[in-house]
Amino acid sequence: MAHIRKNQRNLTGAEKKRFVAALLELKRRGVYDELVRLHVRHYRADGTGGLRTGHMAPSFLPWHRKYLLEFERALQVIDPAVTVPYWDWTTDNTPAASLWSEDFLGGDGRRSDGQVTTGAFAYATGNWTIDDGVLERTYLVRALGRPSSPIALPTKDELDWAMNESLYDAAPWDSTVARGFRNRLEGWAAGSGTARWRNHNRVHRWIGGQMLGAAAPHDPVFWLHHAFVDLLWDRWQRKHPKSGYLPARKLSAGDPQAGRAIALDEPMPPWRTTPAEMLGHRSLYRYET
Ligand code: CU
Ligand code: CU
Repeated sequence: MAHIRKNQRNLTGAEKKRFVAALLELKRRGVYDELVRLHVRHYRADGTGGLRTGHMAPSFLPWHRKYLLEFERALQVIDPAVTVPYWDWTTDNTPAASLWSEDFLGGDGRRSDGQVTTGAFAYATGNWTIDDGVLERTYLVRALGRPSSPIALPTKDELDWAMNESLYDAAPWDSTVARGFRNRLEGWAAGSGTARWRNHNRVHRWIGGQMLGAAAPHDPVFWLHHAFVDLLWDRWQRKHPKSGYLPARKLSAGDPQAGRAIALDEPMPPWRTTPAEMLGHRSLYRYET
């Protein structure tokens, strides 16, 4: 039977406790950091060449759907009742939201070094030591709203601009494409300052710390953010039932994006799973809305 993914704001105290406990156990077993490393290995920007699996690419949505499923299955090995909650950042859009409370994900980073000092993922607990491979910080960092140069979460208009686009994606299938639901939701934009970040990307910027880089899943909020992105894809599919994943066919050898963007029936490394196999999820899980 399909399990249910709930809005995090509707979780009971007991459900939050079990989710957090399963995360800590995954971390203790080394499975969590393995999942983070997988994300780092498959983060490839479009300026660098090679196959883009999860980012700046049409497979952004199916790749992360598969990635979340892997994470959720790992959690369920520890506690079969646990599922990935989603964070609707259009409604729970301030640092005062219960998402950031002591009994769930913990709060903002402190002023001096950005270190998160509250909740189960605070460094001082000894249970959430991080090797992010880049800045040699061993503690979880957040700067909610980026006080040094404030950035807001996506507005409803900005999300509508993505949701109302009926085309899934368009050539050149990367971070520069202005049309298409995928990049409007993933959120790479031209311009300067905060205008460069839309929707999904803007949420990463708003949180700061590890969420800014390829090692973003070190912050547990990553999963709740991406579960909402996954739900938005589902809503978009229902809104545009005639629109499908693109590119539908393998790009021809002469196409500059051949070997760089994944078509409907091509595998998404590190799995053999194709986007076509990830278009629906209702036999596996459902979102409670
Ligand atoms: Cu990602
Ligand atoms: Cu992301």
